[in-house]
Amino acid sequence: MKILSLEEVAKHNTKDDIWIIIHGKVYDLTQFLPEHPGGQKIILRYAGQDATAAFDPIHPIDIIAKYLPPEVCMGAVDEAALANVEKVETEEDKRIRLARENMPRLEEMYNTYDFETVAKQVLRGDAWAYYSSGADDEISVRENHNAFHRIWLRPRVMVDVAKVDMSTTMLGTRVSMPLYITATALGKLGHPDGEKVLTRAAGKKNIIQMIPTLASCSFDEIVDAKLPDQTQWLQLYVNSDRNVTKKIVTYAESRGVKGLFITADAPQLGRREKDMRQKYSQEAPDELSDSDIPRNEGAARAISTFIDPSLSWADIPWFRSITKMPIIIKGIQTAEDAVIAAKCGCQGVVLSNHGGRQLDFAPSSIEILAEVMEALKKEGLDQGFEVYIDGGIKRGSDIFKALALGAKGVGIGRPALVSHF
Ligand SMILES: Cc1cc2nc3c(=O)[nH]c(=O)nc-3n(C[C@H](O)[C@H](O)[C@H](O)COP(=O)(O)O)c2cc1C
Repeated sequence: MKILSLEEVAKHNTKDDIWIIIHGKVYDLTQFLPEHPGGQKIILRYAGQDATAAFDPIHPIDIIAKYLPPEVCMGAVDEAALANVEKVETEEDKRIRLARENMPRLEEMYNTYDFETVAKQVLRGDAWAYYSSGADDEISVRENHNAFHRIWLRPRVMVDVAKVDMSTTMLGTRVSMPLYITATALGKLGHPDGEKVLTRAAGKKNIIQMIPTLASCSFDEIVDAKLPDQTQWLQLYVNSDRNVTKKIVTYAESRGVKGLFITADAPQLGRREKDMRQKYSQEAPDELSDSDIPRNEGAARAISTFIDPSLSWADIPWFRSITKMPIIIKGIQTAEDAVIAAKCGCQGVVLSNHGGRQLDFAPSSIEILAEVMEALKKEGLDQGFEVYIDGGIKRGSDIFKALALGAKGVGIGRPALVSHF
């Protein structure tokens, strides 16, 4: 491969002739620029420079080989020269460095709120905005946890609790506790190892990890990071191109994934204003007019334009025909839809409003759980049909409440994300 000097690469720094460096290789993105799903501005910001740090959290490593023709690779840069480029500490770098130096020790962190507080300080602004944001006024985000505060316990005493076994089964897998790590995109915004950090944690604790379609790591990297007997599930955003969807599903099954969770609550991405603001603060000055930018609404919007808004119940038989994995609908928000899912032959549902990131004023899942269980029972559909919930789960008592009201287990999103920095 041709070795290029940094000076040579730096010359190609305009919209009509743009090269960038990713992991030591130089790519000519001039033709690709208008097609970039994340818009042109973000690429222009790194014109003629090394874009690796910005590229990594948003793109799995195999995306270049999948989407760019080999001839756009112009060569490689001299690694030593790249390493010698003086890194200027920005105000944000300094803030993070100081926050990391003053981070409490792990033993001093008692609960998920403690992790959240530290995460807000040590994560980059764009990472925190993406992880914490919710739709519109973020009413559902807050309600997700607040709803647990309205549920009180009926403590029974004089019961032998000398031995407590929290293990249970989820879709046939025995796990150590009724908790799984749900799918959250862009893990590398929080840690350079991205979702693999959660894979390792799940393996150590014998719980299940749901792999996101939009992971920062490639699917293979996440599966390769698991222990031999560790169970993983796949969260699926259905692509408008069903051949792509079929490929993802059959490949996941061939790699041993044990459950297909089809996300149903994102035909249109929620309006997450915190995330949208970050995008504007980071991009290059206005070298392009707004009309040049097809998608200008934050990291979430940029990475999710392929999601099929026509997905409907009529598609379930097709999914059934392409996989033997249990099919679970993620993002159910009413008892009526839970009943339809059961009648369609799905193996379960996740009651979820996507962590309040999609439709603001969607109810919290704990609020509708009892109603869902009753409706399934009334229709005789509750046996063997697994109901999970996610959203706002912060403590063991929240999990307890969910189980007492009929859930098979719960998923945690942000509490896992903010603990992996
Ligand atoms: C940063 C972030 C990214 C997410 N990405 C996805 C995703 O790619 N696919 C999906 O089905 N759900 C996604 N979710 C929703 C979660 O799977 C889950 O429903 C939600 O996080 C649960 O709420 P909690 O964060 O309060 O635990 C995401 C949530 C967050 C916070």
